[in-house]
Amino acid sequence: MFIAESSSIKIRHLLVEDVYAMRDWGKHDDPLFYDYNFPKLNDMEVKEWFNIKTGRKSKKCYSILDNFNRTIGYLTIKDIKKFKKSATLGIVFDPNFINKGFGTETINLFLDYFFNKIRMRTMYLEVAKFNKRALRCYKKCGFEIIDEYKEKIDNDDIRIYNLDKYVDTEYFFLEDGDIYCFLYQMKIEHKKFCEMREALASE
Ligand SMILES: CC(C)(COP(=O)(O)OP(=O)(O)OC[C@H]1O[C@@H](n2cnc3c(N)ncnc32)[C@H](O)[C@@H]1OP(=O)(O)O)[C@@H](O)C(=O)NCCC(=O)NCCS
Repeated sequence: MFIAESSSIKIRHLLVEDVYAMRDWGKHDDPLFYDYNFPKLNDMEVKEWFNIKTGRKSKKCYSILDNFNRTIGYLTIKDIKKFKKSATLGIVFDPNFINKGFGTETINLFLDYFFNKIRMRTMYLEVAKFNKRALRCYKKCGFEIIDEYKEKIDNDDIRIYNLDKYVDTEYFFLEDGDIYCFLYQMKIEHKKFCEMREALASE
């Protein structure tokens, strides 16, 4: 039933019951993270959300459970390239469970499954420059920055979320009336993952 488990967490393919549980998750207070708050969904919308996350061949979604079998997070791999053996990671936790080491534990566990069980070669991800917690977590897991770029964001989001104070900082900038966010692309390859494992084992 679980694709991977450690002493503190378990990972399984997403079930619809996980999505029902996500409706009870906490909320981020920091407006920069409002987009990661789980949306208010009715029962039908829960099923739609589940279908969107699980209905494509190039995408897979997994839930993350703690020792009390609570659904504390989910992760996705998208842009799965069968021949290049690569995919792109996305990961979100219940705000009540962030900053407790679960992210690092989950990614390490999942990378082992990704590289050694399903024999993939490269994992990518994309992270906003402002997301220092995620960046730190990914670096601890061995991901390296390979690119930095900007992405246009919806000006309305900035106003709705009252993010004006961040415009023209290292995170967001204004150009011709449009607001852009700085992002990093990161990656880890199987070889780097093995090197990190060996270094840990010899400590
Ligand atoms: C990103 C996320 C998956 C990381 O998981 P997590 O369980 O919170 O991360 P961990 O506790 O394993 O590690 C976080 C690290 O960041 C550090 N950190 C936290 N806030 C930080 C900040 N503002 N600046 C720098 N480092 C910070 C922590 O101290 C810890 O490092 P340490 O172990 O060296 O002390 C989780 O926080 C999350 O779901 N966030 C909301 C959604 C999101 O941002 N998803 C990622 C989108 S790319």
